[in-house]
Amino acid sequence: MKTTLTAIKGTKDILPSEARLWQKAEAVCREIFEAYGYREIRTPIIEPTELFVKGTGETTDIVTKEMYTFKDKGGRSITLRPEYTPSVVRAIIEHRLYLQPSLLRFYYFGPMFRHDRPQKGRYRQFHQVDIEVFGESDPAVDAEILEMADYLLDRLQIKDKELLINSVGCPICRPRYLTFLRQEAEKLKSCLCLDCQRRVELNPLRLFDCKEPVCQETNQALPKIMDHLCSDCQTHFDDLRRWLDFYGLSYRLEPRLVRGLDYYTRTTFEIISPGLGAQKALLGGGRYDHLMKLYGGPDICGIGFAMGLERVLTLAKIIPDEEKSIYLAYLGEKSKERCLRLCRDLRRQGFSSFLEYKDRGLKEQLGRANKLGVNWTIILGEDELAKGVGQIKEMASGAQKAVPLEQIIAILKILKRGEKNWPK
Ligand code: HAM
Repeated sequence: MKTTLTAIKGTKDILPSEARLWQKAEAVCREIFEAYGYREIRTPIIEPTELFVKGTGETTDIVTKEMYTFKDKGGRSITLRPEYTPSVVRAIIEHRLYLQPSLLRFYYFGPMFRHDRPQKGRYRQFHQVDIEVFGESDPAVDAEILEMADYLLDRLQIKDKELLINSVGCPICRPRYLTFLRQEAEKLKSCLCLDCQRRVELNPLRLFDCKEPVCQETNQALPKIMDHLCSDCQTHFDDLRRWLDFYGLSYRLEPRLVRGLDYYTRTTFEIISPGLGAQKALLGGGRYDHLMKLYGGPDICGIGFAMGLERVLTLAKIIPDEEKSIYLAYLGEKSKERCLRLCRDLRRQGFSSFLEYKDRGLKEQLGRANKLGVNWTIILGEDELAKGVGQIKEMASGAQKAVPLEQIIAILKILKRGEKNWPK
């Protein structure tokens, strides 16, 4: 039986027609991140499994259910990264980047892997744009990254968005709150799904991550961490709100926003867009002041967010930069040689130019140029070659002009700038 090979469920090809949009979105992100002082960092896709078990959290859904983990040939447990934050923290410690005078602000683009049930907006291989800031504990930086996220989404022409914020406390106030939460959740245990019944004992904060309708309803009756913050966490949160007002950013308090990952302290946030349907988080993040220390590094706080590119691109109203391309049509060996030389020179001047190697007549080549949607065709038949000229044909208007071969590049440069009149 003949089998057809297809992409793995939950993964997708990004075809050339879409890739332009991805490049444009990435260019906008890059430009903004660089302007805000971030620099690119690239880390491996595979990491030791314990990096995520320890950082993301051993009782989180990501670690218990969603990781792509395998043993390599040396018997070591390897995981395809499900998120990026642990990797960047590891890299900072490993390369002692905190000893350098440069800003500890990083950005990153790349694929992540989570074995969840695929649905609209949820993939098993998806792409995140991620930013992280280290060593800044002032809540003004929490607001600054949200201001940057807001500006970024504006630049990507995403208007339909809402910022949700919460605080998940710190190692001083959270244990007290968790004890109380566990007590209250015990009373409602019979109303919870089996996973959540286990969570009550193991990690009750994760009760708020559950998507089961019965659990979501029951969770409404559970105590909110925001009502149990210590005075330092309360002050941090109040100051964050003050800075958000300073930037004129509107937001909604979401006391159940605990974000599914164990490392968060204090600020957590998401920007959602109702236009996305069930998977409506465009980006999510928060503060993680103890992760670096947990990994055996120095006591340096961190905060960041990651944005899902697939989700962003379903809403972004950006238009890829217009391409200007040139087709070279030739006839016979001599003309082919001249066209190849011209094509090479055009490419070196930044023109997207090409010719095809099939044995076709000039008319047929013009037909191809038309189909390919190029801006100009250079026609170099036997007559033209004998006269040392080439015809430049502007495909949109059909206008055509013979110009000396050595002037072709200069003339195309003028035409590329969009000057209407054909140069004399
Ligand atoms: P996260 O909320 O798990 O956070 O993911 C961030 C974003 O990635 C989500 O808001 C969503 O847009 C996208 N995303 C997540 N899972 C999927 C999926 N299966 N398919 C498509 N898109 C998805 C983190 O990953 C944290 N590391 C963020 C962070 C950075 N916190 C601090 N620094």
